[in-house]
Amino acid sequence: MCGIVGYAGREAAAPILLDGLERLEYRGYDSAGIAVVSGSRALQVKKSKGRLSELSRLVDGGKSIDGVLGIGHTRWATHGEPNDVNAHPHLSQDGKIAVVHNGIIENYVELRDFLCSKGYVFQSETDTEVVTQLLAYYYAEDNDAFSALYKVLHRVEGAYALGIICADCPEKFLAARKDAPLLVGFGEGANFIASDVTAIIKHTRDVVYMEDGEVAVITADSVDFFDAMEEPIEKEHKTIDWDVSAAEKGGYAHFMLKEIMEQPEAVRKTAFSRIRDNRVCFDDLKIDEAYVKSVSKIYIVACGSSYHVGVVGKYNLERMLRKPVEVCLASEFRYSNPLVDESCLVIVISQSGETLDTMAALREAKALGAHILSIVNVVGSSIARESHDVLYTWAGPEIAVATTKAYSTQLVLLNMLGMYFGDILGTLPGEEYESIMAELLLLPEKMERLLSNIEDIKRFASDYFNHNSVFFIGRNLDYAMGLEGSLKLKEISYIHSEAYASGELKHGTISLIENGTLVVALGTYAPLFDKAMSNVVEVKARGADVLALATEKNLAEMKKTVENVMVVPETHTVLQPSLGVVPLQLFSYYVALLRGCDIDKPRNLAKSVTVE
Ligand code: G6P
Repeated sequence: MCGIVGYAGREAAAPILLDGLERLEYRGYDSAGIAVVSGSRALQVKKSKGRLSELSRLVDGGKSIDGVLGIGHTRWATHGEPNDVNAHPHLSQDGKIAVVHNGIIENYVELRDFLCSKGYVFQSETDTEVVTQLLAYYYAEDNDAFSALYKVLHRVEGAYALGIICADCPEKFLAARKDAPLLVGFGEGANFIASDVTAIIKHTRDVVYMEDGEVAVITADSVDFFDAMEEPIEKEHKTIDWDVSAAEKGGYAHFMLKEIMEQPEAVRKTAFSRIRDNRVCFDDLKIDEAYVKSVSKIYIVACGSSYHVGVVGKYNLERMLRKPVEVCLASEFRYSNPLVDESCLVIVISQSGETLDTMAALREAKALGAHILSIVNVVGSSIARESHDVLYTWAGPEIAVATTKAYSTQLVLLNMLGMYFGDILGTLPGEEYESIMAELLLLPEKMERLLSNIEDIKRFASDYFNHNSVFFIGRNLDYAMGLEGSLKLKEISYIHSEAYASGELKHGTISLIENGTLVVALGTYAPLFDKAMSNVVEVKARGADVLALATEKNLAEMKKTVENVMVVPETHTVLQPSLGVVPLQLFSYYVALLRGCDIDKPRNLAKSVTVE
């Protein structure tokens, strides 16, 4: 949510900032801006409502701004509508300080009142401008930006990643972090800050992740870190090992399509590195057998698609472990006074590792004494760092806002966790374990087969892209998978869509089915195929247009009732959603394409949600 980049070096800063922002645009894209300080101690701030391309046009790709040090921001609006004035960077009244901010300052009203009483006049409706003016207020006391920053940090409440430049010190900029991601990149004669490594990977792989309460002072040749007490600290460097091309479109029209196509490889990488001699091996886990046996209850906590992985996980883990598994939306969990104690295992799932609600839920569960095991994609992210145990999904960088490959890798890892725990507990019979393992090993290949023949899905998308209301129905794992299919469709095509447990339709929602309502009937969960079919017949009888999803084995049976059927290979029941979700992702993609939607950057959304 909001992307920040900062640069201190010897080259023109503006084009470098714009390039970094382009890679961060997935984090927010309603407005963007840059501030560059020139040697003559002038601050140049340029910002624009709309996509980054607008800003880029405004500053002629950065050529119209000179200066070798600056900060940039791409915004996802919280306080104040997306317009030029509310866009970051915000400039202080005296024109000396410019600030970019990711997060929310919760006590901004009180601080604004204080500053107004001191004669400050506010231009924007943002919480960020309060930080900017407060910095200017303290800077005016002794012309020391560093001490002004600490005074500000002592007064603000809320979450922030901040980048700050000051006209009087054109050779350095400041950064601070609390509850919002920020890293520092070390280059050759240049140093950077960024919300995410994709913004700077082109320039350096040598990074330091900032922790809450820390401040950094950055010049072209040095970076100094300080803790919350203003004491200098040493930080551990990390090397980013993924390839720059992983964050490029590589010939695909959209990142989303590229990421859908990358799923077999991502699943292979995530799963196969943890299989030895046909056994699941989690060398990366600290918990031991005794601990697994002692767990009384498992919670799965997450948001969005990661939560949907958890819904599949509830069905599968309860089946494999015969222990209660509760799946919770992180935003609800944290305020629900959860019944969590030392005997509970809390599995936290997050692609970004930065989702604020998930992070807050993690802290709540940790404070209650639970063991936290997270499934995270972004190495070194906040959730990964605060968990007792981390299992990384090796999906590589995911850029499209609508997740695909991260979902698939999370799913496979959660199933593997089920196998691993089930084996320890003796609740997953050997034969069943072996049959899941045999299918797990074939999963990437089956995904590849599925992805090599998508013509039918394109055709169905062109048949149905004009529908305004869609229901995804299914039972058990099909219902769980339908939640994700439905979310994908609404996220990127803006079609109203809901997922419903088929058996529940008749208790109300079936009243919405009329001639031409599109129902996507999910029929891949073999144990309840017949029951699911009777619900398909019910909606058909009320005039629904039905598009079905079936496995190769039950295709013929499905065809007796439904003409248009998407087909997936057969696999073990617990793994079936890993295949079933792929046509749903592709269907959404092609529907959105035909509707002319901005697929990688859907309206109102952001990939990494670092606000409540
Ligand atoms: C946003 C993204 C979703 C994602 C959710 C949770 O809403 O657009 O794709 O599922 O956040 O994100 P996380 O990074 O915690 O998995």
